[in-house]
Amino acid sequence: MSSPVIELDDVTKVYPLPAGDVVALNGISLSIDEGEFVAIMGPSGSGKSTLLNQIGCLDRPTSGNFFLDGKNIREMDDRELTDLRLSSIGYIFQKFNLIPLLSAYENVEYPYIMKYRKNDDTGRVRDLLALVGIDESLSTHKPNELSGGQQQRIAIARALVNDPAILLCDEPTGNLDTQTGAQIMEVLSDLHRKGRTVIMVTHESEIAAYAERTIVIRDGRVA
Ligand SMILES: Nc1ncnc2c1ncn2[C@@H]1O[C@H](COP(=O)(O)OP(=O)(O)OP(=O)(O)O)[C@@H](O)[C@H]1O
Ligand SMILES: [Mg+2]
Repeated sequence: MSSPVIELDDVTKVYPLPAGDVVALNGISLSIDEGEFVAIMGPSGSGKSTLLNQIGCLDRPTSGNFFLDGKNIREMDDRELTDLRLSSIGYIFQKFNLIPLLSAYENVEYPYIMKYRKNDDTGRVRDLLALVGIDESLSTHKPNELSGGQQQRIAIARALVNDPAILLCDEPTGNLDTQTGAQIMEVLSDLHRKGRTVIMVTHESEIAAYAERTIVIRDGRVA
């Protein structure tokens, strides 16, 4: 029996702006089971990234409750949330967010150092780079010396370095050509087969088809 790893109960997110409040999420209730592969779709501005940020504990809801592994994140302090983010959640950002001055290898190692306060001496970083198809000579390159697809692979390896149970991806193939996009989707599907919970925002129905279930968001609500 699978159990919900993510549960949102009437979650709202309001951005207060001088011109008036922006209601980005307007009463979202949903539940995602451990090991599910879910796509989130919806028009631009409908609240997809805001929703992913909530699930990724990058932000707290304005109202409503969000349970991760049965724990209400409202009851956690900033430190607990940071620990949770480092250990349980891998985040693949749409624009990669790699650190420009670090090599591919060092980018992947970075969250490991944040968590364990030491360099990786287990070979994990090297193995992950191999898993996403980055060979040793490329691992010394800086992000601006790599193609978009290679940068995306490094972002995936980085998201996996602390072995998170949940993988969040915001338009993982958004900037890639069709063939590279398909390769990235194979990597994500494989991680899902190995038991990870994968939640992915996408505009493309061909990409959403890799997931088991699609949640459509419109005007900050589940459509
Ligand atoms: N930091 C912010 N401050 C104020 N308003 C914001 C902020 N972030 C998002 N919004 C607004 O909240 C709404 C939802 O934005 P969000 O980024 O979640 O949309 P999205 O579905 O991811 O869109 P896209 O497909 O274009 O990436 C939009 O109206 C947006 O302008
Ligand atoms: Mg977005």
